[in-house]
Amino acid sequence: MSIINKAAAIGGGVIGAGWVARLLLNGIDVSIFDPDPEASRKVSEVMKGARRAYKQMVPGGLPKEGKLTFAKTIAEAVADADFIQESVPERLDLKHRVLAEIDLYAPANAIVGSSTSGIKPTDMQVAMKKHPERLVVGHPFNPVYLLPLVEIVGGEQTFPEAIEVAKEIYASIGMKPVVIRKEIEAFVGDRLLEAAWREALWLIKDGICTVEELDDIMRYGFGLRWAQMGMFQVYRVAGGEAGMRHFMAQFGPCLKWPWTKLMDVPEFNDELVDLIATQSDDQAHGLSIRELEKIRDDNLVAIMDALSKQNKGKGWGAGALHKDYTKQLAKLAAKKPAASRAAEKAKASKPVKKAEKPKKKKKG
Ligand SMILES: NC(=O)c1ccc[n+]([C@@H]2O[C@H](COP(=O)([O-])OP(=O)(O)OC[C@H]3O[C@@H](n4cnc5c(N)ncnc54)[C@H](O)[C@@H]3O)[C@@H](O)[C@H]2O)c1
Repeated sequence: MSIINKAAAIGGGVIGAGWVARLLLNGIDVSIFDPDPEASRKVSEVMKGARRAYKQMVPGGLPKEGKLTFAKTIAEAVADADFIQESVPERLDLKHRVLAEIDLYAPANAIVGSSTSGIKPTDMQVAMKKHPERLVVGHPFNPVYLLPLVEIVGGEQTFPEAIEVAKEIYASIGMKPVVIRKEIEAFVGDRLLEAAWREALWLIKDGICTVEELDDIMRYGFGLRWAQMGMFQVYRVAGGEAGMRHFMAQFGPCLKWPWTKLMDVPEFNDELVDLIATQSDDQAHGLSIRELEKIRDDNLVAIMDALSKQNKGKGWGAGALHKDYTKQLAKLAAKKPAASRAAEKAKASKPVKKAEKPKKKKKG
């Protein structure tokens, strides 16, 4: 069950609204600040999609939803929150402004998570003059209400305790926190995605394949393998009975040829954007973004559901977590009012000891 009593979301775009949905559907009250006059409509669209997906996951009925409040300022949004997730656009100057304000007005013990896709927490927490030690990167994947992964990254000033509490918080809302051992730009997920995306842009630009053909190559092939075993375990199996050592011996040397374009980036001009966007329009066959979101969500729920039945019913990978999460939601739904226990637990937990001096981060 969640250890969050009250959450705040700063930024309610694609990612912020996804966080709001996950939190509300776990019965947690959320206060949101987003200056976009359309924010309320956009968040409610995402909520509609998330409710629809969760109804499939927990057919017996969902927990009582948390209450959503639109605040007029960051100060108002964070005033009594014990967990704050920042999801404003990816610009360091803006992150600095917003995090400085969050830091000024949030309770000293509140944990602050940033959704940044690649900015190092050390570079962001310099703007937090009061309690930089409670900032962590909590990098999610879209749609936040369904995909469980959150990469947690601490900066030079982050207390190890803050990372521990952040892990607990994210796990309590059904997520899989993975703590990144060393702080680097773009962490792990986006390092991989960027390399694949750069290569994909070259393949389209050079006319080797269309966007649809490239997506087919992923979704009919290795994409299916990745979803259930990742990269290394799949390659272990691909090495035959001799496993990983044989696989490395066979394919390692090819990396030196190399097949790929490595760090070259295709020029991002109008011609490339038109080429990709036009092929992407053709691929969509007239389906709107909202229709595609529904298809994506249904597929994700179905995949996680299928994986939850594997491994002699114990579930495998994301399916094992999905099994536990859906059970947790069903239990929460059976117990109303939902929030009282969580509130007690949140009061008992002191995320970051405010009087402590920043400790040296553990090496490794
Ligand atoms: N889109 C993705 O797939 C994805 C995935 C993981 C992480 N992220 C990260 O999440 C963050 C948000 O990305 P997004 O895709 O949701 O962007 P977005 O453009 O969809 O949403 C950003 C929102 O922030 C609001 N905003 C702007 N200034 C603000 C301010 N001063 N205070 C509060 N809100 C403000 C905007 O009105 C907008 O609604 C970025 O750091 C991004 O790198 C994005």
